[in-house]
Amino acid sequence: GRVIELNEDLPSTNERAKELARQGTVHGQIVLAKKQSLGKGRLQRQWESPEGGLWMSIVLRPNLSLADATKITLAASVAVVDALKELVNLPVGIKWPNDIVFNGQKIAGILGEVVGEWNVVQTLILGIGVNVNFPRQRLGDSFSAVTLYELLGYELDLNILAAEILKYLEGELISLEHKEFQELRQKWSERAIGLGEEVRILRGDQVLEGIFKGISIDGSLLLETVDGEKSFSAGEVRLRS
Ligand code: BTN
Repeated sequence: GRVIELNEDLPSTNERAKELARQGTVHGQIVLAKKQSLGKGRLQRQWESPEGGLWMSIVLRPNLSLADATKITLAASVAVVDALKELVNLPVGIKWPNDIVFNGQKIAGILGEVVGEWNVVQTLILGIGVNVNFPRQRLGDSFSAVTLYELLGYELDLNILAAEILKYLEGELISLEHKEFQELRQKWSERAIGLGEEVRILRGDQVLEGIFKGISIDGSLLLETVDGEKSFSAGEVRLRS
């Protein structure tokens, strides 16, 4: 199949990537859209995707476990941070699990969706959204988000940004294949926001407090609570502060 599909307008690049995956497309297939009408965020949220942003999904057939799929989404956040550092020298950080943030304002998000059986993930759809060349007003004011254009005052070439992210992502994926998770965990931690600080998380309508200790071997959040160290998966809790 075609390795890069560039679309003018799609409901969601993740949905299109899933469709291509079902049709048996190649590992590494990339789907791009200039804008999305039904962009999807984590936790069933909507993701505003006007023209000027980088809306990209990658079809990965890693034949890995769910935990490995989580590691790949962590690798994607590291790749986005490193690409932005290299291209525009912007010191962005990662808010667990994989929000890319500058000064508390979200610039990019990652949505990993798995297609396959419960224990062996046949395909991972890795969606990456970056707010690039548009005013932040286009995002509404429902949450704290910003665009690179607002921060930099100039536009970035979307193709160059995509290539840069993919370059770093490929490096991380190769090292994940060959080495232990330890190296990625280290890199992720170096870029993480709030390590060692007190945080609050939401589980349903329950609020839990603790010290953010890092990520565990499967990518879940490690919290030092009054009842000892506990870990929480990204699907289970939301990080508050
Ligand atoms: C989040 O932080 O909630 C994740 C946002 C992920 C958005 C990207 S844009 C490309 C891909 N297609 C989608 O519909 N969502 C992801």
